[in-house]
Amino acid sequence: MSTKYISFSSQKGGVGKSAFTILISGILYYERGYNVAIIDCDYPQFSIKKQREREKKQIMSVAAFNAMAKAQFERIKKKPYPVFTCEHPDIPGFAREVIARSPVTYDYIFFDFPGTVNSGHTVKAIKGMDYLFIPMEAERKVMESTLEFACTLSEVFVKAGKGENIRLFWNRVDRREKNSLYLKYEEEVIKPLNLRVMTHSFPQSTRFRKEIEEDARSIFISTFFAAMKASTKGTAINPDGFAGEVLTIINSG
Ligand SMILES: Nc1ncnc2c1ncn2[C@@H]1O[C@H](COP(=O)(O)OP(=O)(O)OP(=O)(O)O)[C@@H](O)[C@H]1O
Ligand SMILES: [Mg+2]
Repeated sequence: MSTKYISFSSQKGGVGKSAFTILISGILYYERGYNVAIIDCDYPQFSIKKQREREKKQIMSVAAFNAMAKAQFERIKKKPYPVFTCEHPDIPGFAREVIARSPVTYDYIFFDFPGTVNSGHTVKAIKGMDYLFIPMEAERKVMESTLEFACTLSEVFVKAGKGENIRLFWNRVDRREKNSLYLKYEEEVIKPLNLRVMTHSFPQSTRFRKEIEEDARSIFISTFFAAMKASTKGTAINPDGFAGEVLTIINSG
């Protein structure tokens, strides 16, 4: 299997692109055994790389995290997945270098792009992804720009014979409106545009604030560990179900 390029992408800032990149990379790498790398293209913010550095310091200085990291290494016999930063305008070229230099064959490389897609290089790189997952929120302004972004890319993907590989998903779902507003959007707005929506969605949740700097019992968004599921049991947050749906999609093509 050749390396697949995947991105949680949107023209909209702050919708969860980086958070979902970390969430899914973590489950695929630490739990499901796939080889994963992240290329952080969000210059100069580099939020994933910065989170990795923050976490590294925590692991070195907090005994509980240190022990968790050691136990994980014993279990999976792998170091944490690499996070590369790319300032280079030729993102596909950079990715080829990453692959060429790696001692392992990556199954998936996740690309984290900036919140405002205003450079030709970024647009070109996004068009070159094998799979795109687009977070959206049921707010009119967000929907308008998200759907415009999704439609533009969908055209490109269809022409390239990978039309099935773009999926939208709901983030920050307001559960009180779950069955009316969201389904109405799906039926009346999204489906007529020939766009697909994933089954799993995510509610607004304070879980997303749980990095490893806070609490060793409830890690959710970490570049060193997979999200802990125990603390989300019985809630609408199902990182494993979502990861399973992502895997079915990216392994089907
Ligand atoms: N369902 C959710 N509930 C609560 N917080 C969330 C949810 N999804 C994402 N967040 C939080 O929202 C913030 C923005 O998310 P994130 O940084 O992943 O967005 P982004 O699209 O990468 O932003 P940018 O455009 O700046 O790169 C983060 O603090 C993240 O943890
Ligand atoms: Mg981001």
